[in-house]
Amino acid sequence: MQDMLVRLTDLPHTRELEESLAKQGVVFRRPIAPEKRILVEWTKANFSDYWASEMDVAFSHHPVTCFVAQSEGQPVGFSCYETTSKNFFGPTGVLPAYRGIGIGKVLLIKALMSLRALGYAYAVIGGVGPAAYYQKVVGAVIIEGSGRSVYQDLLRKDG
Ligand SMILES: CC(C)(COP(=O)(O)OP(=O)(O)OC[C@H]1O[C@@H](n2cnc3c(N)ncnc32)[C@H](O)[C@@H]1OP(=O)(O)O)[C@@H](O)C(=O)NCCC(=O)NCCS
Repeated sequence: MQDMLVRLTDLPHTRELEESLAKQGVVFRRPIAPEKRILVEWTKANFSDYWASEMDVAFSHHPVTCFVAQSEGQPVGFSCYETTSKNFFGPTGVLPAYRGIGIGKVLLIKALMSLRALGYAYAVIGGVGPAAYYQKVVGAVIIEGSGRSVYQDLLRKDG
């Protein structure tokens, strides 16, 4: 896994995409404390224990450093930032049935705009994943030599 660098000064707008997704019943919110357990358990069930832990950390910040996409009162996607490291984007995920319609893009840009609002000019996308996706949506580039990253040598549950 490698890290990617993304410039935050000319992020694409998502208003029209959000309006179109709202017509399909998908809305985006920054979650609040009462939703913590629901989101941590949902992240563990649909993605991983590691990502659930990062979601938990997102709820230790005010405001919560995460966005959720929801449909009919249920989470369908999420994006976190500043969980494992400062100025890091991630983790993020969209349920398979909801992929390919722009939800991941809105979640990514909302989190990156929040990092921009914190004063950063660039952000790090930690431990990618689908590099082509980040390159396409926000022009991210691989950081040379980032193969040995903050995620190196993570403890394993079965270790
Ligand atoms: C990566 C992920 C969040 C993308 O979510 P998504 O809602 O399907 O993405 P979107 O529909 O917003 O896609 C936005 C654009 O990126 C493109 N894209 C999506 N996934 C891509 C991929 N893996 N590689 C290249 N391009 C991709 C789409 O075609 C779309 O292009 P368009 O704007 O020209 O139509 C989703 O596939 C996912 O949850 N994957 C599993 C978890 C994961 O890998 N998370 C990232 C960890 S670093």
